[in-house]
Amino acid sequence: MRDEKQLKAIASKMVLKGKGILAADESTPTCTKRFDSISVESTFENRNKYRNMLFTSSNIEKYISGVILFDETFKQSTTCKNKIPFVEYLNSRGIIPGIKVDGGTQDLAGFPDEKITDGLDGLKKRLEEYYNMGARFAKWRAVITIGDDIPSDACIYSNAHGLARYAALCQNANIVPIVEPEVLMNGSHTIETCYEISKRTLNVVFEQLILNRVMLEGIVLKPNMIISGLDCDNQADIDKVADMTYRCLKENVPSEVAGIAFLSGGQSSDLATAHLQKMNEKYQDEMPWNLTFSYGRALQHDALNSWKGSNVSGGQEAFLLRANANSLATKGIAV
Ligand code: G3H
Repeated sequence: MRDEKQLKAIASKMVLKGKGILAADESTPTCTKRFDSISVESTFENRNKYRNMLFTSSNIEKYISGVILFDETFKQSTTCKNKIPFVEYLNSRGIIPGIKVDGGTQDLAGFPDEKITDGLDGLKKRLEEYYNMGARFAKWRAVITIGDDIPSDACIYSNAHGLARYAALCQNANIVPIVEPEVLMNGSHTIETCYEISKRTLNVVFEQLILNRVMLEGIVLKPNMIISGLDCDNQADIDKVADMTYRCLKENVPSEVAGIAFLSGGQSSDLATAHLQKMNEKYQDEMPWNLTFSYGRALQHDALNSWKGSNVSGGQEAFLLRANANSLATKGIAV
């Protein structure tokens, strides 16, 4: 039976003011792509060393409330002599361990260029196992692509339904679901189009969550920001992104939701920090939820490039600088 009190407590802890979530849940192929960019071989050992470098940074718990792990990392340990399992290590530092449970995206049959997220089969059992191994939250990412005549209603509804079924299963296993409907920034669309598609998506996602009896106080929403498409000639400035993202969330996300932690989605690290900072500077007193980060690329890019396979202190220093900047951004403070 779901423990609503526990779910609410964990969800609130994940989005505490001043802290955010480190998305270190790259699948092996994605991690390999990241390692290719710094010419480091993507072996089991190197992936372990890289995650160890991030997690053992000093004072990480000042900025990071939780870490999303990929199955491989979830079962790995620190690289020091006494090899502490990462889950135990993170817990000892007051950081909540989370697990990516979606199975990635597949083509949506009958709808060219659209995707559906896999992973509901066997999910109930996997969640019970992860809970017993220490996971207290999970992540499921659905993607919505903007293009000529897309997204279709079928794509939005199927993905929203998947997110809701996943979220209900998580809560029954006493795991807080991060609900991530990502409207991709790829394309030449304007910020207004991003707004409209994100609004439509959020509405259907909440319709499905409510239909499936998901307790909104026990979820964390992980949305995209409202931004111009990557190839749009007219790139909206930081103020406009902050204003339109705030409006879209305020008008389409129920106030009961425990908190909002953005994905970075391919924005540069600096822009992802600046957008979050501006939103909080302008609107933090007008929102029912804390707005924070659950960045992957935008938290790790500097660290990865400084680490380059062996420079542990350089990687940690870059990671902490970025984590601190994002932590301040959750309070509306610019560095
Ligand atoms: O699902 C996506 C990740 O958790 C966040 O990654 O910040 O690089 O978009 P991103």
